[in-house]
Amino acid sequence: MSVGRILVVEDEDKLRRVIDLHLESAGFEADGAASAEQAMPRAGLADLIITDLRLPGMSGIEFIQQLKARGIEAPVIVVTAHGSVEAAVEAMKLGAADFLQKPFSLDHLTTVVQKVMAVQSLRAENQRLREELDERYQFDNIIGRSSAMREIFHTVERVAPTRATVLLAGESGVGKDMIARAIHQHSPRKNHAFVKINCTALPENLMESELFGYEKGAFTGATASKPGKFEQADGGTAFLDEIGDVPGNVQVKLLRILQERQFERLGSNVTRNVDVRVIAATNADLRAALEEGRFREDLYYRLNVVPINIPPLRERKEDIPFLAMHFVNKLSNDLGSIAKAISPAALDRLFEHSWPGNVRELENTIERSLVLASGEVLQPADIRIEAPRQSAALASQQTPLLPEGETLEHWEQMMIREALRRANGNKSQAARMLGLTRNALRYRLSQMGLEGESSNGDPAERS
Ligand SMILES: Nc1ncnc2c1ncn2[C@@H]1O[C@H](COP(=O)(O)OP(=O)(O)OP(=O)(O)O)[C@@H](O)[C@H]1O
Ligand SMILES: [Mg+2]
Repeated sequence: MSVGRILVVEDEDKLRRVIDLHLESAGFEADGAASAEQAMPRAGLADLIITDLRLPGMSGIEFIQQLKARGIEAPVIVVTAHGSVEAAVEAMKLGAADFLQKPFSLDHLTTVVQKVMAVQSLRAENQRLREELDERYQFDNIIGRSSAMREIFHTVERVAPTRATVLLAGESGVGKDMIARAIHQHSPRKNHAFVKINCTALPENLMESELFGYEKGAFTGATASKPGKFEQADGGTAFLDEIGDVPGNVQVKLLRILQERQFERLGSNVTRNVDVRVIAATNADLRAALEEGRFREDLYYRLNVVPINIPPLRERKEDIPFLAMHFVNKLSNDLGSIAKAISPAALDRLFEHSWPGNVRELENTIERSLVLASGEVLQPADIRIEAPRQSAALASQQTPLLPEGETLEHWEQMMIREALRRANGNKSQAARMLGLTRNALRYRLSQMGLEGESSNGDPAERS
């Protein structure tokens, strides 16, 4: 055990000296004081405090209260007179770590001191770990231990104070919303609005009026003027979710907002200025939309000033246990559930799953498991991972390309025979049908052991 500094507050000089000497011989550093008043200025230096409850002047109980009020966290062992259990109980209620009843043996003193010191150092170690975790693996309430997530936290920290446009990319449920909010929260704009705009599935004209607002009479049904989302976000942040779904016409107007911070309401000639920071998110591949001409290149580059790509959970599995513990803590309180912890074996089960729904799916799984769990600790059997609904991509992956039992090689041979049949054995013609050069076809035919077969009427063959 490391050397600890122990403050001993005892008005009986003889007893105090005996205690001090004994502690010193046990390897501690003892510091004696005859009263609470005398001890108080030195209390902050102590790793542990032993105090008599009956003292001249300030009582031991008052002393403990004072220590607490001053934020002194060293554990306190109280010494009570023989038979005064009530005082000990009161002291324990105030947070004393343990008590000794007079007369006590010096061995017993050592045992109690060592026990309290051990608990104290465990606490300190836990606290240190927790602080380290907080600092390194958490950004606000966003958990991330993987290097990818830590890199993202770093980027968020650097980009938040600026007005730079951020483009968040990642599958559904990876935390794009959370990151967008964190950027806003850490920006000088945090006291202004964070306006989320969902760009999915709004018809073009509705989206325009939603984003830029309209004047009375701008269209049928516009019975009063209305400011748009960008006006609401003035001074703050506009979060454009699913940016890939913005129709072309609106893309032009967004570009203008990004370049000039200007727009007009529908049905108005008045140009308005807004001071808005734009964060956009996409769970689709914007580059593909770009190549297919569905998304303007100039807008893409304006949005992609600071790209943040959030990898799916299956690519940063080391985050799973941390996220799981975080959700158990958070949700077990919300749900008032019995289970408040999770066993290592249950964590292993979570680790093995591939999480197509990412963090959202993990959170839902934990919630379901907590609701249905029977014990205080989530066990593997309590973990209820829902059978995944097949995504379109997954489903198409699972539809066999070839009929069962078929091989690519056999299919190729069938195609080649068919081509030769249709070309009446003319290899040049068959090669054209198959998109092959004549040599490539000849090579394949030799592989099939068909070289020289059915060369009837093919003049090129013989040349
Ligand atoms: N790193 C994380 N730490 C803690 N909670 C997280 C983390 N990532 C995601 N979550 C939680 O998972 C859920 C989904 O996150 P969020 O809504 O931010 O994802 P998203 O990427 O915006 O998803 P979508 O594309 O479906 O809109 C939320 O409940 C969020 O609190
Ligand atoms: Mg989202």
